[in-house]
Amino acid sequence: MATEPELDVLLKTEQTFPPPPDFAAEASFRDPAVYERAAADPEAWWADWAGQLEWIEPWQQVLDWSDPPRAKWFVGGKLNVSVNCLDRHVAAGNGDKVAFHWEAEDAGETGEAGRLGITYDWLLDQTQRFANVMKGLGVGKGDVVGIYMPMVPEAAVAMLACTRIGAVHNVVFGGFSAESLRERMEVSGAKLLVTADATLRRGAPMPMKTSIEEIFGELPDMKSVVVIDRCGTNPSMTEGRDHFWAESVEAADPVCEPEPMDAEDPLYLLYTSGSTAKPKGIVHTTGGYLTQVAATHKMVFDLKENDVYWCAADIGWVTGHSYIVYGPLANGATSIMYEGAPDYPAKDRWWEIAERYGATILYTAPTVIRSFMKWGEELVLKHDLSKLRLLGSVGEPINPRAWLWYHEVIGGGRCPIVDTWWQTETGAIMISPLPGLTTTKPGSATVPLPGIEAKILDSEGEAVEEGGGTLVLSKPWPAMARTLYNEPDRFIKTYWERYGPETYLVGDAAHLDEDSYFWIVGRIDDVINVSGHRLSTMEIESALVADPGVAEAAVIGVPDEDTGQAIVAFVTPQGDAAPGEEFTTALREHVAERIGKLARPKRFFYADDLPKTRSGKIMRRLLRDIADSKDLGDVSTLRDPSVVDDLTAQVEASKKV
Ligand code: WT7
Repeated sequence: MATEPELDVLLKTEQTFPPPPDFAAEASFRDPAVYERAAADPEAWWADWAGQLEWIEPWQQVLDWSDPPRAKWFVGGKLNVSVNCLDRHVAAGNGDKVAFHWEAEDAGETGEAGRLGITYDWLLDQTQRFANVMKGLGVGKGDVVGIYMPMVPEAAVAMLACTRIGAVHNVVFGGFSAESLRERMEVSGAKLLVTADATLRRGAPMPMKTSIEEIFGELPDMKSVVVIDRCGTNPSMTEGRDHFWAESVEAADPVCEPEPMDAEDPLYLLYTSGSTAKPKGIVHTTGGYLTQVAATHKMVFDLKENDVYWCAADIGWVTGHSYIVYGPLANGATSIMYEGAPDYPAKDRWWEIAERYGATILYTAPTVIRSFMKWGEELVLKHDLSKLRLLGSVGEPINPRAWLWYHEVIGGGRCPIVDTWWQTETGAIMISPLPGLTTTKPGSATVPLPGIEAKILDSEGEAVEEGGGTLVLSKPWPAMARTLYNEPDRFIKTYWERYGPETYLVGDAAHLDEDSYFWIVGRIDDVINVSGHRLSTMEIESALVADPGVAEAAVIGVPDEDTGQAIVAFVTPQGDAAPGEEFTTALREHVAERIGKLARPKRFFYADDLPKTRSGKIMRRLLRDIADSKDLGDVSTLRDPSVVDDLTAQVEASKKV
C-alpha cells in the first residue's frame, strides 16, 4: 500500500507519450502554430469557431469585456441551439445519420427494443413535438423546466425542446434525492418537471415519479409534470397536472418554429456544490457556450465524420450536457448512449457495447477506470476494441497507474489519452492535450487549449513559472458561466474577488512543471470530489445535523483508492443516540434521503466533542490529519485536546479492520 503513491510519483516524472505518428498524420490539428495563432488574437479564433454555427442574425462584436467580470460574447447575434444541433444536419441530408446508438440496460433481455438507432430525423421530430407539448402547458421563453430523468434519448429530447422555445432547463442528476430535487426546483422557480416512472438499476426498476410525489405539494410554481413511462410501473398520476410523455408527444403538432435566441440569453441552469450548504445555480448562455462546446468537442476528440463517440457520463452532470448533448449534436456526430450500470449483467458490459457499436472514442472518468482495473483485464481482452483510437478522462486528476492501464489495456497501447480539465462553471474543456499535437504525461492535463489562458498564482497573487499554487483563468472564454441564478453577488464573491474582476478563481490547487504542463492537485475549498462528482462538506454536514441524533458534525474528504476522495464524517451524538452500527446505518440513510446516495459518508467516527479552537471553530485540517494518521503537531491550542486522542484511537482501530 505504502509504495503505491511513490510509484505514481515515480511514473509521473519518467514516462511521456508523444502522439503516435499514424494518429498525428491523420489528426485535424497537426500544426503547433495553432496555439500562437489563437493566443495572438483569441477573439478572431473564437469568432472562427462561432462562424461554423448557423446564426439567424450575425453578431456585431465578438466580446464585450468592458465591465468585467460581466462578459458578453457574440453581442447582438441570434441563433437557436436546436437548429444547430438538429435542423441543419437534416437539411444537409444527414437526417438518417445515427445521433445516438442507445443501449438499454436490459437490452440483453429485450433485444431490438433495447437497442435503438436514434437518428437526427427522429430527434428533430420528437424535439419539435415535445416543444409544442411544453408550449401547450404554458411554458415559454425564459421559463425554467426541471429534468429528472434516466439515461434515455428523451432526456436529450427534453433538453433540445427547451432550447427550441427558449425555455431554460435545469437538469438534476437522477441519483439525487427527492429533497435535492425539491430544493433545486424551488430555488429556480421551475414550472414544469420532466421525469420518468422509474429507472432501471441493475435489472430492477427504481421508482422516480413515486419517490418524488411528496415534493409537488411544496412547489407552488410547478404546474405540470410530464412522465415518460420507462419501466411500466404504473406510477400515480394527478389529474390535470401529470401527463404521460408518449400520449402528449403523439398528439402534438410536429412542427415548432425555433425561437431566435440572443447569444447571451440563458440556455440552462445547472446546480453544483459550493463551499456553503446551498448549491450554486450555474447559468450558461447560448452563443458562446455552443461555440466552445462544439469547438472543443472537435479539437480535443479529433472528431471525424465516421467516429463512433462514447461519452459515458450521465446527462445529469455538465459532462453530459456539453459532451453527450450539445457538443456532439452540434457537430453532427454519432454517439453511444448507455442507460445503465457498467457491471450489469456482467462486468464486461461496457466492452461488449464498445465492440457492438465499434466505438472509436471513449470519454470517461478515472474512478470508472479504476473499477475496471480492479475487475481485471481479462474482461476487456475478450472483446475486440481495435476500433478505439482515442481515450479521454475527466472529473478528477487521473493517477498515473490508472492512466497507464487505460492506455495499455483499453487503448491497446495505440490510443492517445486526453486528460481534460474543466468545471461546471467553465462549461467546456479548458486544459487538455490536442491528441495529434501534445506529448502527454500520465497525470497531467497538459496545457490550456488554444485561445485559453490559465495561470498558477502564489499566495501573493504572483504568477508562478514553475511550482505550485492556485489555478486561475486569466482571459474570458466563450462558455464561461455568466452568473449564479438569482445570486449575482455570490457569483462575484466566489470567483472574481480574490484576484480582481478579470481573474477567475477556479478553486483548484495546481502545479506547473518545467515544461509548463499543468498538474491539477485538487480542490482548495470545502468541496469533496467523489468519483468525479462534486459534493459540499457543508451540505453533508447540514444534512447530518438535521438528524435528531446528531449534535454536531464535521465532514472531510480523504484520499480513496477507488473514488479519488471519500467522505469521512466526525459526529457528536445527541440525546439517546448511541454511536454504533445501527446509528451509522441510519445516518447514512438520512444523508441519502437529504442529498443522494453519492453523498453518504464512507466512514463515521464519534466523539463527545470535535476538535475546536478556543473560539469554537471546528478544525477541519486537524480532522484531515487525524484521518490520514499524520503527525498532529501541537494541539494544545484546542479547547479540549483530549478529543484528539479519542478520535485518533478510533481511526487507528478502523484501519486494522
Ligand atoms: C472539478 C470540477 C469537468 C466535468 C466534471 C466535473 C476536478 C475535473 C479534472 C481533471 C483534475 C479535474 C477539478 C474541478 N476536475 N476534471 N481532468 N483533472 N481535476 O465537473 O463537478 O464542476 O467539478 O473537478 O477539481 O474543479 P465539476
